[in-house]
Amino acid sequence: MRDAHCTAFLQKALPRLHLRWEGFRRVRRQVCRRLDRRLRALGLDSLDAYQEQLERHPEEWEVLDSLCRVTISRFWRDRAVFEALGARLLPELAALAQVRGDADLRAWSVGCASGEEPWSLALLWHLELGTRFPKLGLRVVGTDLDAQLLERASQAVYPGSSLRELPARLRAGAFEIADDNHRLRADLRSGVEFRREDVRRQAPVDRGPFQLILCRNLAFTYFDAHVQREVLERFANTLVPRGALVVGTHERLPCDAPRFEPDPDLRGVYRLSG
Ligand SMILES: C[S@@+](CC[C@H](N)C(=O)[O-])C[C@H]1O[C@@H](n2cnc3c(N)ncnc32)[C@H](O)[C@@H]1O
Repeated sequence: MRDAHCTAFLQKALPRLHLRWEGFRRVRRQVCRRLDRRLRALGLDSLDAYQEQLERHPEEWEVLDSLCRVTISRFWRDRAVFEALGARLLPELAALAQVRGDADLRAWSVGCASGEEPWSLALLWHLELGTRFPKLGLRVVGTDLDAQLLERASQAVYPGSSLRELPARLRAGAFEIADDNHRLRADLRSGVEFRREDVRRQAPVDRGPFQLILCRNLAFTYFDAHVQREVLERFANTLVPRGALVVGTHERLPCDAPRFEPDPDLRGVYRLSG
């Protein structure tokens, strides 16, 4: 499939799925390879034929939506974010939870892929911060649309490449070696759960309200402005006042997000107006 053809197809099709082409520009080849496989599976010889398939069988849009899911993640992705979480944000949010009389610091990891982000939080808490807040537990709910990724998240078994950004102090002793992989120790897994949910329509409200929501490299890269605003509304309704929303290092909230204020000291962190 020629890059130019695939690009033209995506530029036309993505808006129908409320996705933004600009977010896919860098990762388009991955999506085009999947599209190529889909065409072969359907016995179609061109993207024009696939376009007709979409019009004749509208349920195919859901398949296309799933082909457009970018699933890359790793532990401690964007080191500066986790360093800021450990040094400032989590202690501050833990103190906020204590003032509210909460038993747990509650976090929602949106688009959690294979669990790398929720487990990174759990490692920080169990190995470093938890002892400073002995009366407080950590509860993390990781949500994703991809059932296979969630299955991997629950297994908590990773290749070394997924752990390359994790600082040695947190890595040492936290994993058991299983074949060539690393399995997170069972006692470090408490407080984390995974659910299959579509953030465009759902939120794990029964686990909130949250002090912290991490939504990185998903909504504010791939979703269109309309869906971004809907998702933000959902976040605002599930965060505690002064709760924090962390987005990806290359992401920004839409400028009309009046309920969220950028944290003046932490890039990519927004606070819900109190
Ligand atoms: C690029 S990964 C980002 C993973 C992680 N947040 C990070 O920054 O490392 C995006 C994840 O979002 C998931 N995803 C895509 N669309 C979703 C949706 N509508 N609702 C929930 N998860 C979604 C994908 O399956 C994928 O695991």
